[in-house]
Amino acid sequence: MNISRRDFNKAGLGALSLAALGAPAMAGPEHLLRKPIPSSGETVPVVGLGTNRYGVGDDAAKRALLKDVLARFHALGGTVIDTAPMYRSSEAVLGDLIADLGIRDDLFIATKVDREDGADAVHAQIEESTRRLKTDTIDLLQVHNLIGWRDAMPVLREWKQEGSVRYIGITTSRARQYEEFEKVMREEDLDFIQINYSLEQREAAERILPLAADRGMAVMINRAFGGGRIFEKVGDRPLPEWAKDFGCNSWAQFLLNYALGHPAATLSIPGMTKLRHVDDNFGSAHGELPDAAQRKRQEAFFDAL
Ligand SMILES: NC(=O)c1ccc[n+]([C@@H]2O[C@H](COP(=O)([O-])OP(=O)(O)OC[C@H]3O[C@@H](n4cnc5c(N)ncnc54)[C@H](OP(=O)(O)O)[C@@H]3O)[C@@H](O)[C@H]2O)c1
Repeated sequence: MNISRRDFNKAGLGALSLAALGAPAMAGPEHLLRKPIPSSGETVPVVGLGTNRYGVGDDAAKRALLKDVLARFHALGGTVIDTAPMYRSSEAVLGDLIADLGIRDDLFIATKVDREDGADAVHAQIEESTRRLKTDTIDLLQVHNLIGWRDAMPVLREWKQEGSVRYIGITTSRARQYEEFEKVMREEDLDFIQINYSLEQREAAERILPLAADRGMAVMINRAFGGGRIFEKVGDRPLPEWAKDFGCNSWAQFLLNYALGHPAATLSIPGMTKLRHVDDNFGSAHGELPDAAQRKRQEAFFDAL
């Protein structure tokens, strides 16, 4: 991907606004923190985009706001976008907006399957997703919440072999699914897992994240903000001074840096429908990530709130 300074400035991002975010004035998309996908070595920026609130249908005003968010995400160097058929019209909205912006080739699009009624239904759902997303290739196809995974996995492998899907994986955001999730991780050759992990919900670090590292699977973190709930918990408290030691200038960056600082984490996909949230969260793709001792300190601080 190549983002010109013109594109960068067109999205309203001069050195001034980056400085206001606490990012180094020099830091452009070319300086984004990236991590490798173990199965290929391809790298992705550590901050992606979650779109479970992009199902706005034909509402022109809402689409216009989301288009600005996507343009900013792209101008900042973001590539990975996570969607799903389950997110109402999100795939279709993204497909239209990405085509309007002409940015498909710069993106890494992840979507999901969730059919319980057999392989034919899974094939049909993938075809529908490619149509709605207006794409020939799906970068990552995941089984959503393990729904119908036994029938779905051979279909995903088939699409990958044929070349229309680049990577395959599974997702969850519920600790009660972890036992079955772990079993699928042991049985299947997956490129990615997607899982909830945050200062508030740390169970994934007990077995799943170490297993992903052992099995060479990339880890996409969802719900690093607990769906936004964690912001209510921190309220208007000031950030601790020591958060600056690993580049944090906001609570969002504090939370994202915690999740991304886990050695097995590849990237996080915060849900973002506002420009200021994109700007804020990309601070985590420019700063440093906390080491093990700093992450322990974050946990102790959070637990004492
Ligand atoms: N099982 C699964 O496969 C599964 C389950 C859950 C989620 N997911 C994926 O993971 C993504 C992330 O999960 P999520 O969206 O539920 O939760 P999340 O990322 O933890 O939180 C999103 C919320 O945080 C707000 N936010 C984002 N950046 C912020 C910032 N800098 N400051 C303050 N607030 C901020 C968002 O507001 P705005 O929208 O107003 O910007 C939104 O309300 C989803 O969109 C979806 O793609 C997958």
